[in-house]
Amino acid sequence: MMDRHEAQIRIDLLREALKYHNQRYYQLDDPEITDSEYDLFLAELTQLESAFPDMARPDSPTQRVGSPPLEKFSPVVHLTTMLSLKDVFPMKTDSFSEAEIIDFDRRCRSISGEESISYTVEPKLDGLAVSLLYENGRFTTGATRGDGTTGENVTQNILTIPSLPRVIPDDLPTAPEPKANPFPEKMEIRGEVCMEKAALVKLNRRRDQEGLPPFANPRNAAAGSLRQLDSRITARRPLTLFCYAIAATEGIPFPTQKETLESLARWGFQVNPLVRTGIGLQACIDYYHHINQIRAELPYEIDGVVIKVDSLRIQQQLGALARSPRWAIACKFAPVHERTTLEDIIVQVGRTGVLTPVAVLKPVHVGGVTVSRATLHNEDEIRKKDLRIGDTVIVQRAGDVIPEVVSVDREKRDGSEKPFTMPEQCPECGARVVRIEGEVALRCINLSCQAQLREHISHFASRPALDIDGMGDKMAAQLVSAGLVSDPADLFFLTKEKLLSLERMADKSATNLIEAIEGAKKPTLARFIFALGIRHVGERTAKLLAGAFGSLDELGAAGSEELQKIRDIGPEVAASIFDFFREPANLRVLEKLRAAGVSPINEEPLKYSPLWGKHFVFTGTLENTGRHEAKQLVETLGGTVGSSVTKKTSYVVAGDSPGSKIDDARKLGTPVIDETAFIALVKNE
Ligand code: IVH
Repeated sequence: MMDRHEAQIRIDLLREALKYHNQRYYQLDDPEITDSEYDLFLAELTQLESAFPDMARPDSPTQRVGSPPLEKFSPVVHLTTMLSLKDVFPMKTDSFSEAEIIDFDRRCRSISGEESISYTVEPKLDGLAVSLLYENGRFTTGATRGDGTTGENVTQNILTIPSLPRVIPDDLPTAPEPKANPFPEKMEIRGEVCMEKAALVKLNRRRDQEGLPPFANPRNAAAGSLRQLDSRITARRPLTLFCYAIAATEGIPFPTQKETLESLARWGFQVNPLVRTGIGLQACIDYYHHINQIRAELPYEIDGVVIKVDSLRIQQQLGALARSPRWAIACKFAPVHERTTLEDIIVQVGRTGVLTPVAVLKPVHVGGVTVSRATLHNEDEIRKKDLRIGDTVIVQRAGDVIPEVVSVDREKRDGSEKPFTMPEQCPECGARVVRIEGEVALRCINLSCQAQLREHISHFASRPALDIDGMGDKMAAQLVSAGLVSDPADLFFLTKEKLLSLERMADKSATNLIEAIEGAKKPTLARFIFALGIRHVGERTAKLLAGAFGSLDELGAAGSEELQKIRDIGPEVAASIFDFFREPANLRVLEKLRAAGVSPINEEPLKYSPLWGKHFVFTGTLENTGRHEAKQLVETLGGTVGSSVTKKTSYVVAGDSPGSKIDDARKLGTPVIDETAFIALVKNE
C-alpha cells in the first residue's frame, strides 16, 4: 500500500497525464495512447481517489467521463430570469450602427442622470447560453436558457466540459459587514457554451465517417452536444465555456461588470480574453470595428459585440424591459451576406445512400471566400425557405465553416423560377428512393448504387480503414464507373491488366496499386470493422467491438442486448450493427472478401469472460486482490465497476469491514459475494 505522500504524487501525475491525453483525444483528435492504456490510468486514479477520499477533487478527470442516458431533461427554474439582449443590426453601413450605439449611450445617460458612463465591451459569442448554479461554492446544477424562466437540466453534460470549475475557492469579496460564510448560498453564473471552428470541422469529418449529417454551424453543434440525453456523447464533444455574468449574488457586492469578470477569472472561469472594461463611448465604437476586423481569425464564432454599462448600480437604475435589459445592447456585425442566383439544385448521394440537395450558385464572394455550392440539407429545408431554381438568394457563411442559403428575395421573381422537388429515383442509379421512418432524409436503398459504391470503396480503402495507398476518391470513382468494382471485395480481384485498361493508368502505378491491395489483406479486426462502413460505427466504436468480440463471426452473431453491454453502445448503434449482419447483400460481400483471402487478425474476445458485461461494486477491504487490481481485472475482462449499488449492479463484492453498500444490495436483491467467490468468478472456476 502506498503511503499518503506517494499517493499524492502519483495522483497529481495521473491527473496531469489524463488531462493531457484527454486533450489529445478530444481536442486534437490525435491520441498518443490506446483507449485501454487510457482506461488503465483512469482506473488507477479512481482507485487511488477512493483509497484516499480526502484527495479526491471535483475537477479530477475521473469526474468527467459522462453518465448513462437520461430518459428526458428535467426542468430547472432559474433563480434570476435569463434575459436576452436587444440586437442592433448595423446592416451595410457602419454609420448606422454607430448611431445606434450613440443613441444607447444617450438613453443610458438620460435615464440615470449620469454625465458620462463607463462601459464593458465583450464579444457576442455564438453558442448556447447556460446558467450554472453554485451552492455554497459548489457547482450543483447546469441549465439551458429555455424560455428564460425555466430551462432544461443539463448538469451531467456541463460536468463534462473541461473548463468548468466545480468548486469556487473561498475568497469572494466580503460584504461591507463580513458574513460568517462569504459565499452567497446560491449563485448563478451565466455563460456561453461554444464549439471552436476547428473542432467543428473535425467533428463533422468524424460524423461523415459514421454516415451522419454534419452540423451546419458551431452554435448548432454546441446546442446539439449539450442537449444530449447521454452525457457520454457530450463528453466526446470538444466544448468550451466562457462566462460573463453572475446572477443571484444574494447581497455580495460586485460594484462593476469589470469586477464581476475579474472575480470570475480568479475563480477559474474562462473569461473571454478580448473583453475590455471601463471604457467610454468612442472606445466602444472603436472596439466594435476592431473586433469586426479580427473576427475571421478568432478560433470561435462571434456575431457581434455586447456593450454593457459597467456600474451595477447604474444597471439597476436602468432596469429591464420585458425581455432585455436597458443597460446592454448587442451590436451585431454586418452579416457576411451576399446575393446571388440559385442556378440549379443537384442531388448528391452519400455512402449510406442519403440524398442531399445541393445549391449550385452563381459564384459569389462572401467574406473573402468564393462560394458556388451550398448544402440545402433536405427537402423540408427547401420548402421552408421556398427556394426555386432561378431565384435570387441570400447566401451567408455560417461561421467560417459552411456556406448557407439563408433566404430568397421574392421581389426579384419574374415567374420563370422553377420549384424543386426531390427525385423519386436515385439520380445516380435510378432505383426508387425511400423516406426512412423517423428521418427527414430520403435514401437510395439500392446497395449497388454507383454513387454509394464510390463513397463506400474510398471509405473502405481510406487511411484509418484498410489503408490502401493509391486508392483515393478519384481512383475509386474511376474503378466504379469502369465497372471494374461493384463492391469492396472486387478490389482484391483486380489485376494489373484490368487496371491498365483505365485511362491514364501508368504501368508503375498499376503495379504499386496491386501491391498495396495485396498488402491490405490482413488488417486488424478494428480497421476491418471500421472499413465495412456500418452506420454509426466510427473508428472508436470499431475498436471497442473488435476488443469485445475478437472475430467477425462473433460480432456478426451478437444480438442487440449483447452489443449494448459494451460501454458507449446504445440501442441505435446496436440496431445498426445487428441489421448490417442480417442484410444478405452484406453477407455476400463478406463471403467474397473471405474467398479473396482477406482475413482480419482476430483478437482474444472479452465476450467469453465470465465478467463480460457485468457491473461490479466493491465495498470494504479486499485482502488479496486490492481494489485497484480488482477493478483492473473486471475492466480488462469486459466488465464495469461502479461506486454505488443500482438496479444495474450484477454483484457487490464485499471485503473486510464492508460499508452500507451491503444494505443497498439487500434492498435491491443484488447478489453479494466475498473476495474468494470473486476470485473464483474471475478464474471462471
Ligand atoms: S449578457 C441580459 N454577454 O447573447 C444579459 N450575452 O441575446 C444577457 N451572448 O442569451 C447576457 N455573448 O446567449 C451576454 N458576452 C456576452 C454574450 C452573450 C453571447 C448571448 C447569450 C444571450 C444572448 C442574448
